[in-house]
Amino acid sequence: MKILITGGAGYIGSTIGSALEDRGHETVVLDSLVVGHRALARNRPFYEGDIADGQLLARIFGEHPDIECAVHCAALISVPESVEHPYDYYVNNVGKTLELFRNLDDLGCRKLVFSSSASVYGEAPGFLVDESAALAPESPYARTKMIVEMLMEDMCKTGDVRGISLRYFNPVGADPELRSGPHGKATGQVLGMLVDVAMGRRPVFNITGTDWPTRDGTGVRDYIHVWDLAQAHVKAIEGFDRVFELAGDRSQGHVVINLGTGLGVTVKELVDAFEKAIGHEIAKADAPPRPGDTAGAYVSGDLAERLLGWRATLSVQQAIVDALRWSKVREEILGD
Ligand SMILES: NC(=O)c1ccc[n+]([C@@H]2O[C@H](COP(=O)([O-])OP(=O)(O)OC[C@H]3O[C@@H](n4cnc5c(N)ncnc54)[C@H](O)[C@@H]3O)[C@@H](O)[C@H]2O)c1
Repeated sequence: MKILITGGAGYIGSTIGSALEDRGHETVVLDSLVVGHRALARNRPFYEGDIADGQLLARIFGEHPDIECAVHCAALISVPESVEHPYDYYVNNVGKTLELFRNLDDLGCRKLVFSSSASVYGEAPGFLVDESAALAPESPYARTKMIVEMLMEDMCKTGDVRGISLRYFNPVGADPELRSGPHGKATGQVLGMLVDVAMGRRPVFNITGTDWPTRDGTGVRDYIHVWDLAQAHVKAIEGFDRVFELAGDRSQGHVVINLGTGLGVTVKELVDAFEKAIGHEIAKADAPPRPGDTAGAYVSGDLAERLLGWRATLSVQQAIVDALRWSKVREEILGD
């Protein structure tokens, strides 16, 4: 199958590209490089431009009329930045997505997989959330994700389009074959920051938020290996029709699925696991939460297993090892 990946020069989109290619699929990348890195798209057909550029999309589909499905990863993703620049986030993540979806519909691409986020959830008892948990996004970034899900829900009800929104928990690690990994540009990714401190590229790791009502006061997260996450997309795309058969009529063309491991790990526990992996302590300091931060959550339930036939298999320790391996080749691959 041929699949369009928006944001395919980013951390997650590029890893999804490799996972799909390993299964014999072809991918086409659309990315403005506002954040992503050209090298991460490797030798895939690459279109540099904006998701809202209708002419560019028409060209892409003119040159690849056999694209059957779009994975929409392109977005601005920094929570603190979204608090500072909400307008930019709404324009980029919501306004431009509206344009993208309208153009995809016009071009006959009616299978959508959307990169959503667990940040759409509010505080949950015991930090466990399933797909029916209340939504109460805390930041403009998280609200853009919720709004796009709502948009998909409404569009899909018309019956023209079908969509799967995958709510990622906390992606970490790198492609085990080191074809992609964190590019380190303003993502604020926790494991990336730990690696940077260990490599001397950052002086200290700030544990942002030490007073949350968790077992050690630091935020609780569900760290999912990015390669597991990518495999879930492969399942969603290959089993697209089956997902809707299994979900039944109530889905009305739009299905939401959490992607996590089901294991809650606090930031302090992650730091401990990281220090164990590298064999020494790193410089770290307690700091206040960043704007838009939450105590966090982890996955409860098994909808992903039921609908996608997918379950996370890689441990957080493996993610740490792969992130460290990636950090040694990153400069060479990305050239910066
Ligand atoms: N990384 C995480 O922790 C995380 C967690 C939950 C959800 N997500 C979602 O997963 C998706 C991918 O995240 P990522 O970590 O790979 O981020 P990333 O920043 O590495 O990748 C996003 C890509 O989108 C591109 N992009 C942004 N706006 C664009 C536009 N208007 N037109 C074309 N390209 C554009 C960027 O250049 C970048 O390459 C995002 O939608 C994000 O919200 C990420």
